[in-house]
Amino acid sequence: MFQRKTALKAFLPFQKLKENKITTNCVLFQRHVNFFSLAKWDTNCNQFDDKHDLMMNFNTIPNVKTLSQLGYDKNISNEFKKPYADFAMTDPCFRLFSKECVEKIRTELKKEEIKQNCYYSSEIAPLVLRNVTKYSSFLDSLYNSQTLTNLISQIIGIDVIPHPVSLEHCHINVQIPKKSDDLVFGWHYDSQPFVLITMLSDVPKNAKGGGTLIQDREGNITELTFPDAGYAYVLQGSYILHAANSAENWYRATTITSYIPRDFIKYNEFSALQTTTTYTDHNVLAKQYFAYRLETLQKKLENYNNNYIKCSNNIDWNDQHLMQDLENMKAYYEWTMVQMKKLKDFKKPRPMPIPCDMVNDEWLNACFKQK
Ligand SMILES: [Fe+2]
Repeated sequence: MFQRKTALKAFLPFQKLKENKITTNCVLFQRHVNFFSLAKWDTNCNQFDDKHDLMMNFNTIPNVKTLSQLGYDKNISNEFKKPYADFAMTDPCFRLFSKECVEKIRTELKKEEIKQNCYYSSEIAPLVLRNVTKYSSFLDSLYNSQTLTNLISQIIGIDVIPHPVSLEHCHINVQIPKKSDDLVFGWHYDSQPFVLITMLSDVPKNAKGGGTLIQDREGNITELTFPDAGYAYVLQGSYILHAANSAENWYRATTITSYIPRDFIKYNEFSALQTTTTYTDHNVLAKQYFAYRLETLQKKLENYNNNYIKCSNNIDWNDQHLMQDLENMKAYYEWTMVQMKKLKDFKKPRPMPIPCDMVNDEWLNACFKQK
């Protein structure tokens, strides 16, 4: 109430309104309140502009490697799951963001509100930033950009969307120099289907390590390296075994953005919570993940309702599709239960943001000032 009155009074001289005329001017008043809310949310915002911030377009789609080129069979599961597409990865890294865009991202990450709410320490990296798009309209608009999403879909070869769990829109890992024989993050599959990894650090000319190691089906290893800040790659990380190579002599900060297939009927999506539980406020994680799973389940049910009930007089009990759809829904539901149980059974202290006065932003500064 206080805010409504304050907002209104600020506009009275301009609009010649009095408080007792609120009801007759409610539409106008609502516009003023909305204006104030937005201004309060992000008073000094950069605006994402895909024409200037993105350095990739539909004429410059990067080179792609398929699963079969890496020796995989696109129809066969690895030890966990079937691939979502024949796409394996982009190779080599490509320039995604302009220098100006990289600077804007860096500026956002040092904002006070992000320092207060998003900095975590974790087992996989001394500094991890989570949920930053909640506190930055620039980052939120960047990672929800339709142009960027369309380009990523074009690269992958199926229609994808940014992960409905917005925590995964702009996850930041910051790593400090480490010996070459230690992998920063050992061999693993990702918890989300597809990832876009972008380098935020300046990459020194004498940089050693710091790329991503990729294994093909035969176990041969190649390294994807980043020539500079703003370069990126896309990977079906849920299917391809990979590891982050340690940056021996430089500070490495990357953003990780996750995507899932848009078609929620054709693809049963199995995002996992194992790793994210170690560096995210569980209250935020549980709410976002459960909301996503419930909403998708609801859409699946609605789709089956349309297919089997509303559009037919009788159900064909011999219909193979019906049984398969029921199996898929059961698998989706059970997977959700298993993930939520991981939160319930978490044994260690639950992660919380680093208190603001203990945040060490020297590491981020080091990432952004090295040549
Ligand atoms: Fe990964």
